[in-house]
This record gives sequence, structure tokens and C-alpha cells, in this order.
Amino acid sequence: MAPKLQASVLLLLPFFLYLSPVAGHNITRLLSQFPDFSTFNSLLSKTAVAAEINRRQTITVLALDNSAASALARLPDDTLQEVLAVHVILDYYDNVKIHSLRRRSTLFTTLFQTTGVAENQMGFLNFTRLSDGRLAFGSATPGAPLVSTYVKVVATRPYNISVLQISSAIVPQGINGLPLAPFGAPIVVPPEPLVPAPAPVDDTVSDGPAEAPEADAPDADAPASDSPADSPGPAPVSHAPTMADVSDVEDSSAGRVAGGISLGLVMAGVVLLGF
Ligand SMILES: *[C@@H]1O[C@H](CO)[C@@H](O)[C@H](O)[C@H]1NC(C)=O
Ligand SMILES: *[C@@H]1O[C@H](CO)[C@@H](O)[C@H](O)[C@H]1NC(C)=O
Ligand SMILES: *[C@@H]1O[C@H](CO)[C@@H](O)[C@H](O)[C@H]1NC(C)=O
Repeated sequence: MAPKLQASVLLLLPFFLYLSPVAGHNITRLLSQFPDFSTFNSLLSKTAVAAEINRRQTITVLALDNSAASALARLPDDTLQEVLAVHVILDYYDNVKIHSLRRRSTLFTTLFQTTGVAENQMGFLNFTRLSDGRLAFGSATPGAPLVSTYVKVVATRPYNISVLQISSAIVPQGINGLPLAPFGAPIVVPPEPLVPAPAPVDDTVSDGPAEAPEADAPDADAPASDSPADSPGPAPVSHAPTMADVSDVEDSSAGRVAGGISLGLVMAGVVLLGF
């Protein structure tokens, strides 16, 4: 009887939390349902970051599972607070929204930026879609590597709070005087798709396979909108494509001439038939 009662209370709990008009969200309580995130949760509470998250109405928390969060546990409290604030984006991004960002690379403003002590772009995160489909994060500090990737959505309360798991901590170099040595290893970023064949493959075509893993996002990424942004990237093309482009143009104008001639013949035929 008691377990049954407990189960139904647990089932109702999310609805209760959601409907509760007074409390808003409580990140501590939200994460307490996920034992994999207990270390991260206790780090948030240990600093003022949990309270700050609760105070905000539109927020995304980039959460670390226990093994990834353990890397932060050795930081002094003041540094820890700043680093955790870097993991809080001042906007709402759930699984759909983060997959449908149209730009390949975007800067997110974090809670750390609001503290007034962030310098050298440390208050921003660089979000970049890699050519293999992964969604990568790094500090926006110039020259900082991408160090973390999107794993999954943990919990959301649309459109107020979203908790997304990322693979490892993002520690801007030099934050709170932390030594410049890289904190986490940069992730291996695959090269932009260098289409091996010298053929002048259309941008929309070469984008196809790279974008395919994200095709679940039912929208926005119209290849047409992406290709202008992409063209600066793979720009360093040799002149092979240029030559090919030229011959393409020649081909197609030849085609147009041929088309014109045959159209003329058809017209003539129609005229003849008319008689
Ligand atoms: C959710 O956000 C909306 C507007 O962004 C706000 O009016 C509402 O109070 C927020 N709800 C909670 C529980 O914070
Ligand atoms: C948030 O939840 C935790 C754990 O349930 C609780 O200890 C804390 O008092 C709550 N905070 C607020 C502001 O309601
Ligand atoms: C994000 O980082 C990548 C890789 O370091 C870089 O190419 C890109 O320009 C950065 N994006 C922004 C918006 O700064």
C-alpha cells in the first residue's frame, strides 16, 4: 500500500511542480530526480548559482553527469561559482530548438556575463554544429577550443527552464586567475567536409550528408539558407571548380542554343501542322 501511494505521488509530482505558481522552478529539486547528476546538483547548491537559476524565468542549464562534474569538485569555491555560471545560458533551448539553430556557429550569453567580472568573452559560449552532426560547445574566449558536446535533454519546463546534458565541463582559460593550461582536452573536430572529388559539387549537395543526422529537426535548416553561410568556409577551392564552372556555363549556354533551335523546329512543325 505504501509503495503504491509513493508511486502515485511521484507520478503527480512533476505536474504539481509545473502547476505550482509560487515556487517557479527549483533546479535542486528538478535535478534530484536524476541520480546521475547529483554531483553537479550539489555543486550548484554549494554556490549561489542554484538560487540564481531559480530566480530567472528563461534559462538553459548545461548539466554534467557525475563523472564529468567530478573534474570541477577540486576548484576553489569562487572559481567554481564562476565556472558553473558559464554553464547557464540566458535563454531557453530544448532539444528541438538547439537542433534548429540556423547558424553553424552561435554565441550564447551566460549567467557569468551578468556578473560584470567576465572579461575576454568569458561570459559567452561558442556553440558550433560540427560537420559530423555533433553539437559542440566551448568558451567564446578567442582561441579557446571546443571542449564539450551535446548529449541529451535531461528535463524541460517549456519555455522557462531546460536542462541539457553536455559531455564535459567548459572552463574558460584564465577564469578567476586559473592557470592558462587547458582544463579539458579539446574535442576532436572533424575537418569541414572537403569533398574529395574535384568535381564542382553544388553546396546544397555537399551539405546533404553532413546535415543528415540532424534531419529530425523538421524545419529551419533549409539548405538554401545554409549555403550562403557555408560558402565562406569551404572557400579555399583551387581553380579546378572555376574551370569546371566556366565549362558548365558554356555547356548550359550551348544547351540553351540547342534548346532554342529545337524549340524553333517544334514551332515550325506546329505552324506546318496548323496548315
Ligand atoms: C515562465 O516564463 C514566462 C515568460 O517568459 C513568465 O511569465 C512565467 O512567470 C515563467 N514561469 C515560471 C514558473 O518561472
Ligand atoms: C528547492 O528544493 C530543495 C530540495 O527539495 C529545497 O531544499 C529548497 O528549499 C528548495 N528551494 C526553494 C527556493 O524552494
Ligand atoms: C566558434 O569556434 C569555432 C572553432 O573554434 C570557430 O571556427 C568559430 O568561428 C567560433 N564561432 C564564433 C561565433 O565565434
